[in-house]
Amino acid sequence: MELIKNLKWRYAVKKYSEKKVSEDKVDQIVESINLTASSCGIQPYRLFVITNPEIRKRLGEGSFNAQIHASSHLLVFAGFNEITSEYIESYINMMEQQRNMEKGGLKILEDTLIEYFSPQTPEQNTVWSDKQAYIGLGTALIAAAELKVDATPMEGFDPKLFDEVLGLSEKGLHASVIISLGYRDAENDYLASALKSRLPVSKFSTKIN
Ligand SMILES: Cc1cc2nc3c(=O)[nH]c(=O)nc-3n(C[C@H](O)[C@H](O)[C@H](O)COP(=O)(O)O)c2cc1C
Repeated sequence: MELIKNLKWRYAVKKYSEKKVSEDKVDQIVESINLTASSCGIQPYRLFVITNPEIRKRLGEGSFNAQIHASSHLLVFAGFNEITSEYIESYINMMEQQRNMEKGGLKILEDTLIEYFSPQTPEQNTVWSDKQAYIGLGTALIAAAELKVDATPMEGFDPKLFDEVLGLSEKGLHASVIISLGYRDAENDYLASALKSRLPVSKFSTKIN
């Protein structure tokens, strides 16, 4: 399986070279993330693809992760602060159109989702949308590895600063998790030659037959 080889090749890069990732490859990674499954299928997060150097410098302030500004691209996964009935209605409406259904064809699904999310607090919505964003993060890592693009998933950033700089709050979003893309500077990255360290599969996984 090619994927296993790619996953062994990838690592969380600490030091990137100056080489830029082509827009075509970035677009493929973004499309892969967009195709990621989400619970209830309503994609409760948005993605920001940032190259602007000044913005990235500001985003990296106070973080130990130089990769925030020193890499080719920065992707920000921004979860929804709330799952509103209006959002569910508009998403279901889009689904009906994309599946060539009549309006109201997915009414049962729409009502079920509204009934499920309505009693929830914004805090519950936030936790849930963050979980969905992390599934997208996993896809991004896999897609990047397949394209032989290096990547670093990161939680080491200031979410409040991200919200402020990117104006996320007024969009009803918050920064959930981020990932940088680029190409490893193998000579200057102490992790480039480190061997992959993982539990033996037999310890990690249990088969119950
Ligand atoms: C959700 C998440 C957050 C992470 N945050 C950071 C981070 O802020 N900075 C960093 O250098 N690495 C970060 N990492 C990378 C992990 O440390 C790394 O994936 C782990 O040590 C396994 O090593 P490998 O990915 O190189 O195989 C993060 C990884 C994940 C999945």
